[in-house]
Amino acid sequence: TRHLLGIKDLTENDIQLILETADYFKEVINRPIKKVPSLRDITIANIFFENSTRTKLSFELAQKRLSADIINFAASSSSVSKGETLIDTVNNILAMKVDMIVMRHPYAGAGIFLSKHINAQIVNAGDGAHEHPTQALLDAFSIRQQYGDVAGKKIVIVGDILHSRVALSNILCLKKLGAEVMVCGPTTLMPRYIKDLGVKVEHNLVKALNWCDVANMLRIQLERFDIKYFPSIREYSMMYGLNKQLLDSLDKEITIMHPGPINRGVEITSDVADSKQSIILEQVENGVAVRMAVMYLLASQNPLA
Ligand code: CP
Repeated sequence: TRHLLGIKDLTENDIQLILETADYFKEVINRPIKKVPSLRDITIANIFFENSTRTKLSFELAQKRLSADIINFAASSSSVSKGETLIDTVNNILAMKVDMIVMRHPYAGAGIFLSKHINAQIVNAGDGAHEHPTQALLDAFSIRQQYGDVAGKKIVIVGDILHSRVALSNILCLKKLGAEVMVCGPTTLMPRYIKDLGVKVEHNLVKALNWCDVANMLRIQLERFDIKYFPSIREYSMMYGLNKQLLDSLDKEITIMHPGPINRGVEITSDVADSKQSIILEQVENGVAVRMAVMYLLASQNPLA
């Protein structure tokens, strides 16, 4: 593929190549001079139709480390408010000789739709509740860094699976890499198709945590739905929130992950998020190297081409 629209389109070999390329770029960005000239002939537009802190800044930094020319577009300050369509907006950006689009959009499938109508490479930086492929790749990279390999590791994804693009991309990525994957959360936040993805489903957080090596704690995606009934935020926090007392009661030291942004005190308490078992900020650090790898491989058209 010329694009990275979702983990669904990648083979295990594609993912391994991205992770190995990211190993190289992680070494590069820890040098005194953090830049390489690899993409100096490439222009990239970051177009964000939905808010972001980590993904936007991480892509932008990755592009700068690769010496790409970049432009940033925030829908909120653009002519989208005057009625311009997505295709017109992007074609106008491409008319300025842009080679690659990194797009975040609130609607599932926005990147797939765009790929059928424009002539440029597209990287999906999160499309609604569908996929967030670079998040899954940086999560896999972080687990591999922690344990040496992803294969055979037991990973539980806890929380709002129904509205989470991070959950879907992580499930697809981790399973392709040979991990055992469990999801844990209330039935009201679990998609009906979940068992078709080949994951274990557990509704009891204590059982899930006692099973796993790694717990990836998700935020409730309140921007995608309105919580009125079960679980309320308070009930959710009592039943599915991870606190230090629960963490310390487990038989083994598990690794704690979170894609961010954290709602401290809801899905995870501060003492857990900031504990030595947490690799949350390592995930963010690894995101730059992983995104460098993705854009480098796409731009060189090999082998994702
Ligand atoms: N993990 C993640 O996608 O964070 P942002 O929404 O801040 O980009």
